[in-house]
Amino acid sequence: MKIKKAVIPAAGLGTRVLPASKSMPKEMLPIVDKPAIQYIVEEAVASGISDILIITSRGKTTVEDHFDRSPELEKRLLDSGKTDIYKQMLAISEMANIHFLRQQEAGGLGHAVLCAKSFVGGEAFAVLYGDDVIIGDNPVCKQLCDVYDEFGKGVVGMKEVSWEQIKKYSSLKTAPVREGGNVYSVTDMVEKPPTREKAFSRFSILGRCVLPASVFPVLETIPKGVGGELQLTDAMAVLSRSEGMYGVDFIGRRYDMGSKLGILQACVELGLAHEEIGEDFRKYLQGIASSL
Ligand code: UTP
Repeated sequence: MKIKKAVIPAAGLGTRVLPASKSMPKEMLPIVDKPAIQYIVEEAVASGISDILIITSRGKTTVEDHFDRSPELEKRLLDSGKTDIYKQMLAISEMANIHFLRQQEAGGLGHAVLCAKSFVGGEAFAVLYGDDVIIGDNPVCKQLCDVYDEFGKGVVGMKEVSWEQIKKYSSLKTAPVREGGNVYSVTDMVEKPPTREKAFSRFSILGRCVLPASVFPVLETIPKGVGGELQLTDAMAVLSRSEGMYGVDFIGRRYDMGSKLGILQACVELGLAHEEIGEDFRKYLQGIASSL
């Protein structure tokens, strides 16, 4: 069955990018002229998703406003003949059926996903982490949905990262499904392994997964994990050991909008690729690069 629903958890506190995220959700930080979360919603829509639930929290109403109509602004744009930008504004609110739910306390990514239980019902669904912008010619969420279609099991987006990063992310036990391919079976995983010995590999989950509804009873029963938070990885570890999961070493460029360096990388690279200002920005960078 095709994946039609997606959950975007965007309720975290964003402590790594304070003070920028004190009153502005990190998911709303702009990359050139669009907030991060718009890139993520566009990826979901381009992957065939029709219903999106964004998990927000106190102080994040700007996320809802962004995907809402803005009649006054629309009228002003129309009246002044700015039809291109008017159409863009309208398109934002018409991209998909976008729903919102507030996570009442930041109980962790697993808790945020658990909040989506009644929205999801009994179907498999995609999860796109609200602070991970991933740009690819073939949308990364679609790359995962295709593997779900093939095997009918949960799928994680993964990449090889350094041992330093493995301690901050997760580590996967994998075996390639096809020689030379980018799809792997995943039979175990661990969140934030404190030492190299506790890690399975340098493959880590990054930003995207497709989960069966069977993840919910697991999330309801497992104890809190690292940092006293309900960890999505802990629930996926149970699934990978019991029913099995798959991993896709996805093709795409990921920007971690929850980190200072990630924000700058996103702005520079997507700035260079931007239709309107890309060329001028390239000249500007070339100009300052010589003095670095
Ligand atoms: P992160 O762990 O990167 O978010 O979660 P964080 O807790 O905001 O990060 P710190 O404070 O800088 O360490 C990945 C995604 O999951 C969401 C976040 O908003 C982010 O988009 N999230 C995290 C929730 O929705 N709820 C939570 O309780 C935790």
